Amino acid sequence: MINDKKVLYSGMQATGNLTLGNYLGALKNWVSLNEEYECFFGVMDLHSLTVRQEPADFRKKARNLLILYIAAGLSPEKNCIYFQSHVPAHAELSWLLNCFTYMGELSRMTQFKDKAAKHADNINAGLFTYPVLMAADILLYQADYVPIGRDQQQHLEITRDIAERFNGIYGDVFTIPEAYYGKAGAKIRSLQDPAKKMSKSDENVNGSIYLMDDPDTIVRKCKRAVTDSGSEVRYGEDKPGISNLLEIYSVCTGKTVEEAEKDFAGKGYGDFKLAVAEAVISVLKPMQDEYGRLLKEKDYIDGIIRDNDEKAAYFANKTLRKVKKKLGLTEMPRK
Ligand code: TYM
Repeated sequence: MINDKKVLYSGMQATGNLTLGNYLGALKNWVSLNEEYECFFGVMDLHSLTVRQEPADFRKKARNLLILYIAAGLSPEKNCIYFQSHVPAHAELSWLLNCFTYMGELSRMTQFKDKAAKHADNINAGLFTYPVLMAADILLYQADYVPIGRDQQQHLEITRDIAERFNGIYGDVFTIPEAYYGKAGAKIRSLQDPAKKMSKSDENVNGSIYLMDDPDTIVRKCKRAVTDSGSEVRYGEDKPGISNLLEIYSVCTGKTVEEAEKDFAGKGYGDFKLAVAEAVISVLKPMQDEYGRLLKEKDYIDGIIRDNDEKAAYFANKTLRKVKKKLGLTEMPRK
């Protein structure tokens, strides 16, 4: 608890072009929860280094991600929005937790297996221990809740296992975090292949709606989305393409899937796809406008980065000190 509020922690990698999946599965929930909890949202730039980055482009992308969090509606005064790499405690706790994590459990991570297959020429140790750094992120802030999409479920489970293992030996050091998933939108699928999740690293750009896509592009991508046989706008396992679009429509409009189905009863796929595009545009456009405005506010953003880095470091160091003490690491002698 901080200020009598439960703690919420989440973040995104500072790489690639963010997609509607990142927004609907994570960012949108962060915004809806940020009043109720004491929140920390990290720009996960250390995690991004598991894949090679071009330095100048990477620096810009990381800063722009922080700006996007604010443009999406997260107040940087009420929430702690900061860069993971600015708080050394993340890397430090990650090392300590590495010593409480088994090779066997890390090698079962599906995201490691997928990424290793994709980057066969660079299967580095960071890719393997990625979930331990993620555990450190979450546990440093004693988070109660972690709002994420379904693809991060396994990483949250290993975080809980590591925390429970540590607590089992040293007492109640870490809060055991729980995942938070939205009622819908936790797994947005590719518009071109609904068997796959919508992903920023997808080579087929038509499969993803990017957060910075302009209205024409969004309409075009929705029109091209693969649909299923039949002509009925209905949610069901036999209709993965339409179900995905229904889910997108429902999260963007705030209607339930049943309400959405009723709206399109007797109408064809064409009308439906256009309505989905409009719903997406109505959510993304205000965020894009605000993002464009904030990009020009250099001093304001610099000030936020400074203040929030300090705030994050304060809470993170508190946990780190406790962990080191429990482990028996020698303390710095007082003068
Ligand atoms: P990342 O950057 O891949 O994704 C950021 C968030 O977006 C969610 N997401 C989706 N949700 C629904 N449908 C989709 N198609 C979709 N694609 C992505 C992800 O589940 C995630 O919530 N390892 C994390 C970053 C991280 C983190 C943390 C998250 C590092 N440390 C601590 C929470 C707490 C990642 O790579 O997310």
